[in-house]
Amino acid sequence: SSNGAPRHFLDLDQLPASELRRILDHGVEMKRARAAGARAKGPFEGRILAMIFDKPSTRTRVSFDVAMRQLGGETIMLTGAEMQLGRGESIADTARVLSRYVDAIMIRTLDHEAVMELAHYATIPVINGLTRLSHPCQVMADVMTFEERKGPIRDRTVAWSGDANNVLASWIHAAERFDFSLRVATPPELAPRPAMTEFVQRTGARVSFGHDPEAAVRGVDCVLTDTWVSMGDRESARRHNMLKSFQVNAQLMALAAPDAIFMHCLPAHRGEEVTDEVMDGPQSAVFDEAENRLHAQKSILAWCLDSGTAA
Ligand code: CP
Ligand code: NVA
Repeated sequence: SSNGAPRHFLDLDQLPASELRRILDHGVEMKRARAAGARAKGPFEGRILAMIFDKPSTRTRVSFDVAMRQLGGETIMLTGAEMQLGRGESIADTARVLSRYVDAIMIRTLDHEAVMELAHYATIPVINGLTRLSHPCQVMADVMTFEERKGPIRDRTVAWSGDANNVLASWIHAAERFDFSLRVATPPELAPRPAMTEFVQRTGARVSFGHDPEAAVRGVDCVLTDTWVSMGDRESARRHNMLKSFQVNAQLMALAAPDAIFMHCLPAHRGEEVTDEVMDGPQSAVFDEAENRLHAQKSILAWCLDSGTAA
Protein backbone atom coordinates (compact mmCIF):
# COMPACT_ATOMS: atom_id res chain seq x y z
CA SER A 1 0.00 0.00 0.00
CA SER A 2 3.01 2.36 0.25
CA ASN A 3 5.77 3.19 -2.18
CA GLY A 4 9.30 1.99 -1.61
CA ALA A 5 10.66 -0.03 1.29
CA PRO A 6 8.25 -1.00 4.03
CA ARG A 7 8.73 0.66 7.42
CA HIS A 8 9.79 -2.19 9.67
CA PHE A 9 9.98 -1.77 13.44
CA LEU A 10 12.66 -4.31 14.29
CA ASP A 11 15.07 -2.77 16.77
CA LEU A 12 15.65 0.63 18.30
CA ASP A 13 19.17 0.83 16.87
CA GLN A 14 17.73 0.45 13.37
CA LEU A 15 15.84 3.75 13.46
CA PRO A 16 17.17 7.30 13.67
CA ALA A 17 16.78 8.98 17.06
CA SER A 18 14.66 11.73 15.52
CA GLU A 19 12.19 9.17 14.15
CA LEU A 20 11.95 7.35 17.49
CA ARG A 21 11.32 10.66 19.22
CA ARG A 22 8.55 11.49 16.77
CA ILE A 23 6.92 8.11 17.32
CA LEU A 24 7.08 8.55 21.09
CA ASP A 25 5.67 12.08 21.04
CA HIS A 26 2.88 11.01 18.73
CA GLY A 27 2.02 8.18 21.12
CA VAL A 28 1.77 10.66 23.98
CA GLU A 29 -0.48 12.85 21.83
CA MET A 30 -2.77 9.93 21.03
CA LYS A 31 -2.94 8.96 24.70
CA ARG A 32 -3.93 12.52 25.62
CA ALA A 33 -6.48 12.77 22.83
CA ARG A 34 -8.14 9.57 23.93
CA ALA A 35 -8.16 10.61 27.59
CA ALA A 36 -9.83 13.86 26.46
CA GLY A 37 -12.58 11.82 24.87
CA ALA A 38 -11.42 11.57 21.25
CA ARG A 39 -12.72 8.41 19.64
CA ALA A 40 -11.27 8.75 16.14
CA LYS A 41 -12.07 5.52 14.37
CA GLY A 42 -10.61 6.40 11.05
CA PRO A 43 -6.87 6.01 10.75
CA PHE A 44 -6.57 2.22 10.54
CA GLU A 45 -9.88 1.61 8.80
CA GLY A 46 -9.51 -1.14 6.25
CA ARG A 47 -6.10 -2.09 7.64
CA ILE A 48 -5.35 -5.58 8.89
CA LEU A 49 -2.52 -6.59 11.21
CA ALA A 50 -1.50 -10.26 11.26
CA MET A 51 0.01 -11.35 14.56
CA ILE A 52 2.16 -14.45 14.82
CA PHE A 53 2.79 -15.69 18.35
CA ASP A 54 5.18 -18.59 18.84
CA LYS A 55 5.36 -17.81 22.56
CA PRO A 56 2.81 -16.81 25.21
CA SER A 57 1.80 -13.18 25.64
CA THR A 58 -0.72 -11.16 27.61
CA ARG A 59 0.30 -7.51 27.13
CA THR A 60 1.73 -7.60 23.63
CA ARG A 61 -1.16 -9.59 22.27
CA VAL A 62 -3.96 -7.62 23.86
CA SER A 63 -2.40 -4.17 23.44
CA PHE A 64 -1.70 -4.62 19.72
CA ASP A 65 -5.17 -6.04 19.18
CA VAL A 66 -6.85 -3.19 21.05
CA ALA A 67 -4.61 -0.60 19.36
CA MET A 68 -5.76 -1.77 15.94
CA ARG A 69 -9.43 -1.98 16.90
CA GLN A 70 -9.61 1.38 18.67
CA LEU A 71 -8.34 3.02 15.50
CA GLY A 72 -10.65 1.15 13.17
CA GLY A 73 -8.40 -1.69 12.04
CA GLU A 74 -8.59 -5.43 12.41
CA THR A 75 -6.28 -8.24 13.46
CA ILE A 76 -5.66 -11.89 12.67
CA MET A 77 -4.09 -14.09 15.35
CA LEU A 78 -1.78 -16.84 14.21
CA THR A 79 0.72 -19.24 15.70
CA GLY A 80 3.62 -20.64 13.73
CA ALA A 81 2.57 -24.16 14.70
CA GLU A 82 -0.85 -23.89 13.08
CA MET A 83 0.53 -22.29 9.93
CA GLN A 84 2.33 -24.19 7.17
CA LEU A 85 5.49 -22.71 8.74
CA GLY A 86 5.10 -25.51 11.26
CA ARG A 87 5.32 -28.05 8.40
CA GLY A 88 8.39 -26.52 6.84
CA GLU A 89 7.12 -23.78 4.52
CA SER A 90 9.89 -21.23 4.38
CA ILE A 91 9.82 -17.92 6.18
CA ALA A 92 10.50 -16.19 2.86
CA ASP A 93 7.46 -17.73 1.17
CA THR A 94 5.33 -17.05 4.24
CA ALA A 95 6.41 -13.40 4.07
CA ARG A 96 5.59 -13.18 0.36
CA VAL A 97 2.15 -14.68 0.86
CA LEU A 98 1.14 -12.68 3.93
CA SER A 99 2.28 -9.52 2.12
CA ARG A 100 -0.48 -10.15 -0.43
CA TYR A 101 -3.20 -10.26 2.23
CA VAL A 102 -2.51 -8.03 5.19
CA ASP A 103 -1.07 -4.56 5.82
CA ALA A 104 1.49 -5.39 8.51
CA ILE A 105 2.84 -8.33 10.54
CA MET A 106 3.66 -8.38 14.24
CA ILE A 107 5.68 -11.41 15.27
CA ARG A 108 6.85 -12.88 18.58
CA THR A 109 9.31 -15.70 18.25
CA LEU A 110 12.55 -16.50 20.05
CA ASP A 111 14.51 -16.72 16.81
CA HIS A 112 15.67 -13.18 16.02
CA GLU A 113 17.05 -14.23 12.64
CA ALA A 114 13.60 -15.50 11.66
CA VAL A 115 12.16 -12.05 12.25
CA MET A 116 14.93 -10.44 10.18
CA GLU A 117 14.26 -12.91 7.39
CA LEU A 118 10.53 -12.29 7.50
CA ALA A 119 11.19 -8.55 7.22
CA HIS A 120 13.64 -9.11 4.39
CA TYR A 121 11.08 -10.88 2.22
CA ALA A 122 7.94 -9.03 3.29
CA THR A 123 6.77 -6.08 1.21
CA ILE A 124 4.75 -4.84 4.20
CA PRO A 125 5.98 -3.63 7.63
CA VAL A 126 7.16 -6.21 10.16
CA ILE A 127 7.12 -5.42 13.88
CA ASN A 128 9.30 -7.24 16.41
CA GLY A 129 7.04 -8.29 19.28
CA LEU A 130 9.93 -9.86 21.24
CA THR A 131 12.74 -12.20 20.32
CA ARG A 132 15.52 -13.78 22.38
CA LEU A 133 17.59 -10.72 21.56
CA SER A 134 15.32 -7.71 21.94
CA HIS A 135 11.95 -6.21 22.85
CA PRO A 136 11.81 -2.79 21.19
CA CYS A 137 8.05 -2.13 21.56
CA GLN A 138 8.38 -2.67 25.29
CA VAL A 139 11.12 -0.11 25.70
CA MET A 140 9.24 2.52 23.68
CA ALA A 141 6.44 2.17 26.24
CA ASP A 142 9.01 2.24 29.04
CA VAL A 143 10.60 5.49 27.87
CA MET A 144 7.12 6.97 27.51
CA THR A 145 6.36 5.94 31.10
CA PHE A 146 9.62 7.35 32.43
CA GLU A 147 8.94 10.71 30.77
CA GLU A 148 5.35 10.79 31.97
CA ARG A 149 6.52 10.45 35.57
CA LYS A 150 9.89 12.18 35.51
CA GLY A 151 10.11 14.49 32.51
CA PRO A 152 12.52 14.23 29.56
CA ILE A 153 14.78 11.17 29.82
CA ARG A 154 17.69 12.92 28.12
CA ASP A 155 20.70 13.14 30.48
CA ARG A 156 18.89 11.20 33.21
CA THR A 157 20.18 7.97 34.78
CA VAL A 158 18.47 4.61 35.01
CA ALA A 159 19.76 1.32 36.43
CA TRP A 160 19.16 -2.32 35.57
CA SER A 161 19.61 -5.04 38.18
CA GLY A 162 19.26 -8.63 37.03
CA ASP A 163 19.70 -10.85 34.00
CA ALA A 164 21.13 -9.42 30.76
CA ASN A 165 18.15 -10.30 28.60
CA ASN A 166 16.19 -9.06 25.58
CA VAL A 167 14.56 -6.18 27.45
CA LEU A 168 17.93 -4.93 28.66
CA ALA A 169 19.26 -5.07 25.09
CA SER A 170 16.53 -2.71 23.94
CA TRP A 171 17.23 -0.44 26.93
CA ILE A 172 20.87 -0.29 25.86
CA HIS A 173 19.78 0.76 22.37
CA ALA A 174 17.43 3.31 23.94
CA ALA A 175 20.20 4.82 26.09
CA GLU A 176 22.11 5.63 22.92
CA ARG A 177 19.12 6.78 20.87
CA PHE A 178 17.45 8.86 23.60
CA ASP A 179 20.75 10.04 25.07
CA PHE A 180 20.56 9.01 28.73
CA SER A 181 22.79 7.05 31.12
CA LEU A 182 22.20 3.40 31.92
CA ARG A 183 24.01 1.50 34.66
CA VAL A 184 23.80 -2.24 34.29
CA ALA A 185 24.38 -4.74 37.10
CA THR A 186 24.23 -8.41 36.18
CA PRO A 187 25.85 -11.54 37.58
CA PRO A 188 29.21 -12.04 35.79
CA GLU A 189 27.91 -15.30 34.31
CA LEU A 190 24.80 -13.60 32.91
CA ALA A 191 26.40 -10.52 31.40
CA PRO A 192 25.32 -8.94 28.09
CA ARG A 193 26.34 -10.53 24.80
CA PRO A 194 29.46 -9.17 23.09
CA ALA A 195 27.22 -7.53 20.48
CA MET A 196 25.78 -5.31 23.21
CA THR A 197 29.11 -4.23 24.68
CA GLU A 198 30.42 -3.65 21.15
CA PHE A 199 27.37 -1.51 20.38
CA VAL A 200 28.17 0.63 23.42
CA GLN A 201 31.83 0.96 22.45
CA ARG A 202 31.04 1.75 18.84
CA THR A 203 28.40 4.37 19.56
CA GLY A 204 29.80 5.87 22.75
CA ALA A 205 26.47 5.26 24.49
CA ARG A 206 26.51 6.14 28.17
CA VAL A 207 26.11 2.57 29.40
CA SER A 208 28.24 1.04 32.15
CA PHE A 209 28.43 -2.67 32.91
CA GLY A 210 29.09 -4.09 36.36
CA HIS A 211 28.05 -6.68 38.87
CA ASP A 212 27.07 -4.63 41.91
CA PRO A 213 23.36 -3.72 42.12
CA GLU A 214 23.90 -1.28 45.00
CA ALA A 215 26.52 0.68 43.10
CA ALA A 216 24.33 0.67 39.98
CA VAL A 217 21.18 2.06 41.60
CA ARG A 218 22.79 4.71 43.81
CA GLY A 219 21.02 8.02 43.13
CA VAL A 220 19.31 6.93 39.89
CA ASP A 221 15.94 8.21 38.64
CA CYS A 222 14.63 4.76 37.76
CA VAL A 223 15.33 1.16 38.76
CA LEU A 224 14.60 -1.59 36.26
CA THR A 225 14.51 -5.33 36.42
CA ASP A 226 12.91 -8.32 34.70
CA THR A 227 12.32 -12.01 35.26
CA TRP A 228 15.24 -14.27 36.10
CA VAL A 229 13.99 -16.86 33.64
CA SER A 230 13.05 -15.56 30.20
CA MET A 231 11.18 -17.56 27.60
CA GLY A 232 13.66 -20.05 26.20
CA ASP A 233 15.84 -20.10 29.37
CA ARG A 234 16.18 -23.25 31.38
CA GLU A 235 14.79 -22.80 34.88
CA SER A 236 17.55 -23.83 37.29
CA ALA A 237 18.61 -23.47 40.90
CA ARG A 238 21.94 -22.15 39.63
CA ARG A 239 20.26 -19.27 37.79
CA HIS A 240 18.21 -18.38 40.84
CA ASN A 241 21.28 -18.47 43.08
CA MET A 242 23.25 -16.23 40.74
CA LEU A 243 20.42 -13.68 40.59
CA LYS A 244 19.25 -13.72 44.22
CA SER A 245 21.30 -10.72 45.27
CA PHE A 246 19.94 -8.70 42.30
CA GLN A 247 16.39 -8.66 43.67
CA VAL A 248 14.78 -5.22 43.70
CA ASN A 249 13.48 -4.82 47.24
CA ALA A 250 12.84 -1.85 49.53
CA GLN A 251 16.46 -1.88 50.68
CA LEU A 252 17.79 -1.56 47.14
CA MET A 253 15.17 1.04 46.16
CA ALA A 254 16.24 3.12 49.16
CA LEU A 255 19.63 3.68 47.51
CA ALA A 256 18.07 5.26 44.39
CA ALA A 257 16.93 8.89 44.33
CA PRO A 258 14.10 9.42 46.84
CA ASP A 259 11.62 10.04 44.02
CA ALA A 260 12.95 7.27 41.76
CA ILE A 261 10.46 5.06 39.98
CA PHE A 262 10.49 1.29 39.58
CA MET A 263 9.71 -0.34 36.23
CA HIS A 264 9.31 -3.94 35.11
CA CYS A 265 7.97 -5.05 31.72
CA LEU A 266 5.88 -7.80 33.40
CA PRO A 267 5.01 -10.57 33.93
CA ALA A 268 6.67 -10.29 37.36
CA HIS A 269 7.69 -13.13 39.59
CA ARG A 270 6.89 -11.60 42.92
CA GLY A 271 9.32 -12.65 45.62
CA GLU A 272 12.02 -13.38 43.05
CA GLU A 273 13.31 -10.42 41.02
CA VAL A 274 11.03 -7.98 42.86
CA THR A 275 9.19 -7.92 46.18
CA ASP A 276 5.48 -7.18 46.63
CA GLU A 277 6.48 -4.12 48.61
CA VAL A 278 8.21 -2.56 45.61
CA MET A 279 5.72 -3.79 42.99
CA ASP A 280 2.77 -2.37 44.93
CA GLY A 281 4.59 0.59 46.46
CA PRO A 282 4.28 4.29 45.59
CA GLN A 283 7.39 4.28 43.39
CA SER A 284 6.11 1.51 41.15
CA ALA A 285 5.10 2.52 37.61
CA VAL A 286 4.55 -1.01 36.36
CA PHE A 287 0.87 -0.77 35.48
CA ASP A 288 1.24 2.60 33.75
CA GLU A 289 4.04 0.93 31.87
CA ALA A 290 1.75 -1.92 30.84
CA GLU A 291 -0.93 0.59 29.78
CA ASN A 292 1.55 2.55 27.74
CA ARG A 293 2.21 -0.46 25.54
CA LEU A 294 -1.16 0.39 24.01
CA HIS A 295 -0.40 4.06 23.39
CA ALA A 296 3.17 3.57 22.20
CA GLN A 297 2.12 0.80 19.83
CA LYS A 298 -0.66 2.83 18.30
CA SER A 299 2.02 5.25 17.29
CA ILE A 300 4.37 2.51 16.09
CA LEU A 301 1.52 1.10 13.99
CA ALA A 302 0.68 4.54 12.61
CA TRP A 303 4.32 5.00 11.65
CA CYS A 304 4.55 1.56 10.04
CA LEU A 305 1.25 1.97 8.20
CA ASP A 306 2.26 5.53 7.34
CA SER A 307 -1.22 6.67 8.28
CA GLY A 308 -0.26 10.21 9.16
CA THR A 309 -1.64 11.76 12.31
CA ALA A 310 -3.77 8.99 13.75
CA ALA A 311 -5.55 10.36 16.81
N1 CP B 1 5.84 -7.31 28.65
C1 CP B 1 5.34 -8.16 27.72
O1 CP B 1 5.75 -8.19 26.55
O2 CP B 1 4.34 -8.95 28.19
P1 CP B 1 3.63 -10.17 27.42
O3 CP B 1 4.64 -11.30 27.39
O4 CP B 1 2.46 -10.49 28.27
O5 CP B 1 3.27 -9.74 26.04
N1 NVA C 1 12.55 -11.20 29.31
C1 NVA C 1 11.21 -11.75 29.28
C2 NVA C 1 10.24 -10.70 28.84
C3 NVA C 1 8.81 -11.14 28.76
C4 NVA C 1 7.90 -10.05 28.28
C5 NVA C 1 11.17 -12.94 28.34
O1 NVA C 1 11.82 -12.88 27.29
O2 NVA C 1 10.52 -13.93 28.66
